[in-house]
Amino acid sequence: MPPAIAPVIRAASPIAGRPQRLTRRAASETILAMANKLSGKTLAVLGAGKLGGILLRAYLKQGLFSPKRVTATVKHAEKAGPLSKQLGVAVTNDNRKAVKGADIILLGVKPQMIADVLKEIAPQLGPKTLVISVAASVPASYLEQHLGRKVPVVRAMPNTPAAVGCGMTGICRGAHAGPEHLEIAREMFDAVGRTVVVDEKNMDAVTGLSASGPAFAYIILESLAEAGVKVGLPRDVATLLAAQTMKGAASVVLETGDHPALLKDSVTTPAGCTIDGILELEEGKLRVTLIKAVVKATSRAGELLFEK
Ligand SMILES: NC(=O)c1ccc[n+]([C@@H]2O[C@H](COP(=O)([O-])OP(=O)(O)OC[C@H]3O[C@@H](n4cnc5c(N)ncnc54)[C@H](OP(=O)(O)O)[C@@H]3O)[C@@H](O)[C@H]2O)c1
Repeated sequence: MPPAIAPVIRAASPIAGRPQRLTRRAASETILAMANKLSGKTLAVLGAGKLGGILLRAYLKQGLFSPKRVTATVKHAEKAGPLSKQLGVAVTNDNRKAVKGADIILLGVKPQMIADVLKEIAPQLGPKTLVISVAASVPASYLEQHLGRKVPVVRAMPNTPAAVGCGMTGICRGAHAGPEHLEIAREMFDAVGRTVVVDEKNMDAVTGLSASGPAFAYIILESLAEAGVKVGLPRDVATLLAAQTMKGAASVVLETGDHPALLKDSVTTPAGCTIDGILELEEGKLRVTLIKAVVKATSRAGELLFEK
């Protein structure tokens, strides 16, 4: 019988070391405590694109950082004004200016841009400035080398469901970062979902599974909806059924900590319909295809940095 997976899932609980089910009051007190802890800090988001923008919007919406203490950057100067208006924070294309006096720097540029940006900002950094990078494929040691001194660095790999507070982020710390830096990063990513601390050797795997994963899940979801259309359902109904079913199945795994194989067995009545569907999935090699997709994405995650 497959083992229950609850301990691993609980380890990724939004609130480290606490039971997962909090009362509403306790949850809001925890969010308030987190907000208070970070709100005195100054944040610079370098590269407020898709992912940087998602994170920044969430921080501002939840009051994690005071807008007065936040500066964001983009590459194209003409985007700065409209984005600043939209977010209500200072936006510039001057990275050096943005990081001056910052307590935390969130690097949201593409992996290939990291070296140039670090070279640009390194002279402005204080010894206590925390650098958090979400760039795929870029090791903490690479960030440290390009910063040229003992700056605390945290490497993170979030995903886009962070936009609706359902993100999953893997984090690990560099050579000069302590548990307190990891804790700050954890709080920043807990604000948009769940966070798990992993060894750096597993960061490409996190990229291949949970950062690329939403794209794989959307394809599965779209296929289920398409199947619903094939068996006569209107498309909007089919999409709702498929999406809520996937969300429901994922929620059961997260809330019970039960192994997915056991949960699958509980849906599968002897000689019923589900087992006929499972037979088709096995014949179509769904499992091996998904495993291969994650393996490929993981190995690709190790290559991005070296491309121009
Ligand atoms: N998208 C995901 O699902 C995902 C998931 C996990 C991690 N990541 C990581 O997140 C990072 C950003 O990805 P993304 O999808 O958000 O890309 P994106 O939308 O292209 O955002 C990149 C941002 O960086 C800005 N930029 C480029 N060069 C810059 C420079 N020299 N100085 C300041 N800003 C600069 C761009 O400005 P302009 O807008 O002016 O061009 C843009 O706003 C990547 O490292 C990626 O590996 C992404």
